[in-house]
Amino acid sequence: MGVKTVNKLDGYDKTIVCPPDKSVSVRAVILGAYAVGRTTVRNLSLCADVLSAVDCMRRLGADIKLDGTTAYFTGAPFHGAKLDCGNSATVARLLAGLLSGLNGVFELTGDESLLRRPMARVIEPLVAMGARIQHTDGKLPIKIIGSPLKGTEYTLPVPSAQVKSALILAGLNAVGRTRVVQPVAVRDHTERMLAAMGGDINVDGNAVEIGQCALRAVETEIPGDVSSAAYPICVALCTGGKCTVKNVGANPTRTGLFDVLKSIGADMIVENRRVGVEPLCDVTVRGGRALRPLVVDGRTVARVIDEIPALCALACFIDGISVIDGADELRVKECDRIKATVSALRSLGADITETEHGMIINGGKRLSFGTVDPCGDHRIAMAAAVAACAGNGADIIDAECVGVSYPNFFKEIIDVE
Ligand code: S3P
Repeated sequence: MGVKTVNKLDGYDKTIVCPPDKSVSVRAVILGAYAVGRTTVRNLSLCADVLSAVDCMRRLGADIKLDGTTAYFTGAPFHGAKLDCGNSATVARLLAGLLSGLNGVFELTGDESLLRRPMARVIEPLVAMGARIQHTDGKLPIKIIGSPLKGTEYTLPVPSAQVKSALILAGLNAVGRTRVVQPVAVRDHTERMLAAMGGDINVDGNAVEIGQCALRAVETEIPGDVSSAAYPICVALCTGGKCTVKNVGANPTRTGLFDVLKSIGADMIVENRRVGVEPLCDVTVRGGRALRPLVVDGRTVARVIDEIPALCALACFIDGISVIDGADELRVKECDRIKATVSALRSLGADITETEHGMIINGGKRLSFGTVDPCGDHRIAMAAAVAACAGNGADIIDAECVGVSYPNFFKEIIDVE
């Protein structure tokens, strides 16, 4: 396992093009492989999760050619297969939905972290639609015996875009209409992509309705990943530096980060907004201003869920008490991200305490050099690196886990080889 040594950074000043969005890339791979005809996807993320999706779709029978970050898909009827979803719950849950109504027997598994993650949240509503799924205590590995599905109405008990998407994709092959109601709006990349592919989909407020339909091939371009942009943005704010991130995805279901940064008084310019299937913008932040402690609660949490570890790192450098609440979903991510964030930042001397639904950070204290175990979780490793370059450095063990979403993170963002 690799250790990366991160040093304190001075005079941070970066302009980068945002790496492509992982969430949108996974959907493009799954739907590009499924649609009838030849789909072209530009600016595809080549992170490990997306490569897991590519591998699964090839095993199902799709022809996928990768030429740098451009991918060409020729859909073919899928056949039964054994699929390894790697570290990606998005791949496992979306495929569970899509495959449940197709002909064939499909076995899904994943790495050690994915085997611990809850699948019952998708299995139960899919079974209610008629799916036949054998599982291991509500977890992977699962075996799906493709069966006829019927449309359903389902209200999400947890704010999860993966569950919503699994049901929408099952609805593509279900008789009648499938309606999914979300108590809070979670990312809507699946809905946008299905609409662009001619799917019979309707969005009415927080309800999404889909009818049985085929999808047609598209040409599309993946936006930058706001979740990845959060790291250089937080480095600039913590170190009193500056950064510009271009081509950042500005889908309103994902931009809770901008709202939180505005609310604490960050010097941030969001400009060059472009509309499209997925909207884009460029973001510039300058550190040096005194920031107010941050509060993330039930109202914003779903729109900033993956950026919370990075925001906790930022909060370590803001005088006063910052609070993350209503973030229970963090406990079922790649690891328990509440515990892992607290433990990683404490290794660097931060004053951060776990609460039932989040954490409390008493910021503005000096951090010290420490060794961080990110628990194999990419976002914890990157958040710890943010804190280390504004604090007093760190050794981050198992640092290659960043490859799950951001393979070039260390070199591109903090100049660590
Ligand atoms: C994702 C949805 C979110 C998010 C994850 C990616 C997606 O998970 O945390 O990183 O691509 O749909 P949940 O659906 O579990 O909230």
